[in-house]
Parts: sequence; structure tokens; C-alpha cells
Amino acid sequence: MSDIYNFSAGPAILPKEVLRQAQEELLDYEGSGISIMESSHRGAEYSAVHEEAQANFRKLLSVSDDYAILFLQGGASHQFAMIPMNFLGKGQIADYTLSGSWAKKAIAEAKNVGQVHLAADTDKDRPTRVPSPDALDLTDDAAYLHLTSNETISGAQWKAFPDSEAPIIADMSSDILSRTLDVSKFSLIYAGAQKNMGPAGVATVVIRKDLAEQGAKDLPSILRYQTHIDGDSLYHTPPCFSIYIVCLVTRWLLTKGGVSAMEKINEEKAGALYSAIDATDFYTGAADRAHRSLMNVTFNLPTPDLEAQFAKEADAAGLKGLKGHRSVGGLRASIYNAFPREGVDALLTFMADFEKKNG
Ligand SMILES: Cc1ncc(COP(=O)(O)O)c(C=O)c1O
Repeated sequence: MSDIYNFSAGPAILPKEVLRQAQEELLDYEGSGISIMESSHRGAEYSAVHEEAQANFRKLLSVSDDYAILFLQGGASHQFAMIPMNFLGKGQIADYTLSGSWAKKAIAEAKNVGQVHLAADTDKDRPTRVPSPDALDLTDDAAYLHLTSNETISGAQWKAFPDSEAPIIADMSSDILSRTLDVSKFSLIYAGAQKNMGPAGVATVVIRKDLAEQGAKDLPSILRYQTHIDGDSLYHTPPCFSIYIVCLVTRWLLTKGGVSAMEKINEEKAGALYSAIDATDFYTGAADRAHRSLMNVTFNLPTPDLEAQFAKEADAAGLKGLKGHRSVGGLRASIYNAFPREGVDALLTFMADFEKKNG
């Protein structure tokens, strides 16, 4: 077991300590005699979990009281639709940056609701990259500006964020809690949990309360952010078990020194992989150097056949989930917060051996 390293892009690795604690208290949560999975979402046990998860998250990213922190079902894809439904009114234009596959999905949903303007398009650029924050073609009076902070598939990540008169909305599904962040730059941040926060089934939404108030009123209640703020994410039964794991993961992060400590470790882990990639012509980074993701390290080998062989042999050696996304091929090492440094070192050794044999 201990020799397996999980490089999966998501659902992804969780801290071992968290999984062990969940296992230990699975049948009897804190002496209640029942599992947290079986507890009422309005009971004392679950209420404490819900509140702690929110409080930990608020602390980790220094989120002010101007924002609500919501735990919603439906994953990040649900947010792709909810955002324009709430904030893209008739006659308005929303600015979107097209930086890769996930931005494209967000844009497709927005177009189902209203008018979209592409403030930048780097989708086809190779090496992959995200737009420059100061080179966006912004619309006057845009309803909002949407960006994808880390393109999980291409491995390109925004290193600095743009200034905008319009509210900035960001999909941070694959890099939330991995680096320090000035939340006050954003009006809404959302992230599916299953990469850096917990299991699938919940998305965290950080939303300015005054933005939520301006959301469309003529929507079904469950689709309005204001409903979930009013109900403190308990408008309906929340994904309690997923939120419980988010609570444990955020607690784990706090004990590890919080987001800034994690960012330093993430820079070291990703830096070691990128250095190895740059040290030889056998490996090529898929993302532009200035935009390389700290979470999803994407790279290529000289041929697709060698890439397939690499993924297969790595898997047999206990390095799981390195095959790139089916839409782009190549290789991808997803090294989220919970991914241990030893796993990166194991990959570095494997890469050197593989090159020796096949280079
Ligand atoms: C950046 C990004 N946005 C959105 C999604 C979609 O998330 P979900 O499956 O929770 O809808 C993903 C999933 O991998 C992602 O990486």
C-alpha cells in the first residue's frame, strides 16, 4: 500500500491522516454511537462539522465577513450554469477568458443563458498558457469577468490576476487552498472539492454577499445563491459526508501551517519536476514556463508510443494516474496539497531510469 502514489487529477489523493481519522470514527462519531453519515444535518454533531468546515476555510484564506462560504451540491459544473443564471441578465454581456477545456465548458453554459464576450483566447496556444492579466479585451459595464485559475487538463495556471471594474468570478477547482490568495480581488470563487479539499459531491463557493443580493430573483429557489446564504448551505440536505471530509482536510491544512506553508511545499514539489523536465530533451513541458501549474505538471515524451509505455510502466511501478487527459494525451502528474514529496522523488527516479532505457 505505502508504495502506491496517486497522481490522479481528480478525484484525487487525500491526506492519509484524514482518511485514517475518517476510518476510525466511521461507525461511531465522537461517541454518538452512530456514523456522521447517519446523523441529521440539523443535529449537534453535524452542525459542529458544518460550522468548523466554514470557519477553517475562512481562516485559511482570510475571507472577510463580506463573503459567505457555501457548500453546494452539483460540483463545479453546476456553478458553470448557476453563475450566468444569477448574474447575466437580459441585455448584459459577461466577459470570459478562454484558457482551455474547463473555461470552454464554463463559456458554453454561459452562452445558454446570455451574451458572452471573449476577453482573451489562448485555447489553441502551444505551449499551453493562460491569458496575460493586463492584455484582456474587457467590455464596459460587463456583468462580470470569468476566469479559470488553473486549467487542470493543460497544466496552465494564472500567476497574477487581472484588475477589472466588473466583478471577477473564478473557477479555482484545481488550485484552491494551494497558494496564498487575495480573496478581496474576487466577487465569487468556486471549486469542486475533489482535488484539493475532499471527495466529490460538494463545491465550495465564496461569494460576496452584496453580489448574491443582486442575483436574478426569477429563478427556482435552489438555483439562487441568496437562498443558500439565507439557509447557511442547509436549504436542503447538504452532502454531509463530503463536507465532513472537507472539515478534516481544512483542519489538517491548518495544522500544517496553512496555505502559505503549503504553497512553499507545492513550489518545491513542482519545481523539482519542472527542473527534471528542463534538464533533458527527452521530456518537454506542455505548458509555457511562465504559466506552469503547481498542481498539474503536464509533459510530453518524443512519441505518443513512448508516452503510453511510460504511463504503463509507471503504473506497474506504483505511480498511478500519470496518463494525460484523453483529450490531449501526454503525461500529467497531479500533485495536489496532499501529494507527498516522496511521491515526487519516486517519479523523478522513474523518469531518470526510463530515459536511460529509452532515450
Ligand atoms: C478547473 C475545473 N473546473 C471544473 C471542473 C468540473 O468539476 P465537477 O466535475 O465538480 O463538475 C473540473 C474537473 O476536473 C476542473 O478541473
